[in-house]
Amino acid sequence: MKRMAVVLAAGQGKRMKSKLYKVLHPVCGKPMVGHVLDTIKATGCQRTVVVVGHGAEKVKAYIGENAEYALQETQLGTGHAVQQAKALIGSEQGTTVVACGDTPLIATKTLQGLMALHEERGAAATVLTAVTENPSGLGRIIRGSQGELIKIVEQKDCSPEEAAIKEINTGIFCFDNAKLFAALEEVTPNNVQGEYYLTDVIGILRGQGELVLAYQTDDASEAVGVNDRLALSEAEAYMRARINREHMLNGVTIIDPASTYIGADVVIGTDTILYPGTLLKGKTVIGENCVIGPASEIEDCTVMDGACVKHSVLNQAQVGARTTVGPFAYLRPGAVLGEEVKIGDFVEIKNAVIGDGSKVSHLSYIGDAAVGKNVNVGCGAITANYDGYNKATTTIEDDAFIGSNVNLIAPVTIAKGAYVVAGSTITRSVAENDLAVARVRQENKPGYAEKIRARAKAKKDQSSPS
Ligand code: UD1
Ligand code: CA
Repeated sequence: MKRMAVVLAAGQGKRMKSKLYKVLHPVCGKPMVGHVLDTIKATGCQRTVVVVGHGAEKVKAYIGENAEYALQETQLGTGHAVQQAKALIGSEQGTTVVACGDTPLIATKTLQGLMALHEERGAAATVLTAVTENPSGLGRIIRGSQGELIKIVEQKDCSPEEAAIKEINTGIFCFDNAKLFAALEEVTPNNVQGEYYLTDVIGILRGQGELVLAYQTDDASEAVGVNDRLALSEAEAYMRARINREHMLNGVTIIDPASTYIGADVVIGTDTILYPGTLLKGKTVIGENCVIGPASEIEDCTVMDGACVKHSVLNQAQVGARTTVGPFAYLRPGAVLGEEVKIGDFVEIKNAVIGDGSKVSHLSYIGDAAVGKNVNVGCGAITANYDGYNKATTTIEDDAFIGSNVNLIAPVTIAKGAYVVAGSTITRSVAENDLAVARVRQENKPGYAEKIRARAKAKKDQSSPS
């Protein structure tokens, strides 16, 4: 049977009090509508229509080619929103899932269960429901004496008895496509909000003698519909717990899940240990047997097997196998570390390759550089890569030794096996196996310290007589 989906994402989300359109607010680093679309994709829908309106261009720019779009110019309600998809899929035969772009927690397994029940029973409509202690603001599920689904009543239209019902509409439905679009024609805006409610379709279909079913999830957290920032934080907490749990069940040790933040798209290998205060974001991939944290923020990075990152910030960087980073290191975009590299405390690396076995152990800045294998960069050595207008490159070849506090004024090349003595400011390239010294030769003046002190004391006594 053909499966389709309609995702509602045209509302502005007034209750969010935000310039960002509601469905683009991220939960665990991914816009809410992205979560919904990923879940739908996992259930094998062949066509997905996203109904856009407020911020249509921004929403479309985020989703891109992953969906078709229907424009809802004025937001007259969820039923009206679904109707906008009619021109695209109205003549199809099959099952249509309708989901709201603001319910990011809906799980793939649940959606599959909903679809299976709907298709097995040949229902006209099946609604995903949940029982929650706090049903405020949500549509209530009205059942008959046999437990059969009768209709859905929105909070604002509820009688006091209906308002007391704790089973709610999650906003996720399965419909027979043809029956859905036919029933939508019958929906009227005769309600407190003056809107065309999608939820009315349930009562309408039932009134026509069609089979309508409710499928209840036992995980009420899936029903969180994010209408304001409070619900957003709730969704974030649930999603975070779910993501952490998944990683732990897949063999990742998380010492303190409450202080560990893992983005929805992050991949982590088995036997990796995450210490407290770890934030893994974006498209980050962490290998096996790594030790990450404490207190590290890693975004859009690849960290290979056996690497260790402590108290550090990494952004768009690559860390090779068994390499150590930190404490207190900063890897910026384009930092590419080889295997068994050591990047130590207060070291910043930007747009630079560091070859296997090389060490930059303390207090260095390496930017726009190509560093070979087994190079030692001494404490405080830096690349001076910027003249205020242009960036220039520093090349340090294999086995070179850069002494402490060396300034490498780019563009400059330190060839293989060369040695640059501490405190040098290097402006010209150094050939293979040469030694470079670029500092003033030291002079010692015997006993001169006494003289200096006497002179200083005399000056002080003169300016402040006792
Ligand atoms: C809706 C349901 C409610 C359910 C709840 C679950 C209706 C009438 N009510 O209420 O039963 O318990 O979701 O979270 O369906 N949208 C449009 N165009 C519109 C109106 C809304 O695209 O004209 C989109 C919104 O962007 C949003 C979604 O539809 O993504 C739901 O709309 P919202 O206003 O949040 O509905 P709720 O009041 O939460
Ligand atoms: Ca909502």
